Amino acid sequence: MRGAPPAHIVDEVEALKREAGIAACSFINSGMTLGLGTGSTVRYTVLEIGRRIVEEGLEVKGVPTSEATRHLAEGLGIPLLTLEQAGEIDLTIDGADEFDPDFQLIKGGGGALTREKRVAAASRAMVVVADVRKQVPVLGGFDLPLEVDIGDWEGVRDELDLICPGSVRLRGGQTPYVTDNGGHILDCEFGPTISEPSQLEQLILSVDGVVEVGLFVGMCDAVVMATPSEVLTMVKQGGRLD
Ligand code: A5P
Repeated sequence: MRGAPPAHIVDEVEALKREAGIAACSFINSGMTLGLGTGSTVRYTVLEIGRRIVEEGLEVKGVPTSEATRHLAEGLGIPLLTLEQAGEIDLTIDGADEFDPDFQLIKGGGGALTREKRVAAASRAMVVVADVRKQVPVLGGFDLPLEVDIGDWEGVRDELDLICPGSVRLRGGQTPYVTDNGGHILDCEFGPTISEPSQLEQLILSVDGVVEVGLFVGMCDAVVMATPSEVLTMVKQGGRLD
């Protein structure tokens, strides 16, 4: 069994997350409505937005993508809207589990993929914050999360067993994880084989009981990626921030 990484590695990764999370705030202007993503990297973005509101008078409104982010943002005094109240969102900043050279993503490691995707879809642009470990040539090394209706998870698992080359596991096992929407998560071990994420997304969405798939295609316009030597901002050519 692999042990926990040494403390200095954990600290280094945490520093990269922080750098990326804060650097992405350069995309934010006063007056914006922001989609606030979920996870340990974008947490630093949310903290920085809170700081800028208090110290610099930044005026923004946030649309949280999870209950965890809602709690965090509320504690920081960030004015919040629901997606329904916001209607359109100027910019969403969120993390990712993987991104490929075409700015296609796997998301959902934190279980919030359904709301994350709805918020991203309502946004005029999306920026992903990541450390260098998330950059991959082909998606799928990270197990692909699906949100499924709680009563249908076994049927979906059986169907996914026919589609997915590796194992399909119920997150949480004996104590299944329950999402903010009251669903379960299946983690699907595709391996780095997802070269046509859009096709796979449509195939999986056609399975009864699937609520959402953690493949984000044509949504991400830029990635702010921290490496040990620098923070890189990569803007998608022809994207909405180009
Ligand atoms: C939450 O459901 C996810 O989509 C996260 O955005 C993703 O897992 C990245 O999270 P970390 O920044 O914690 O790695």
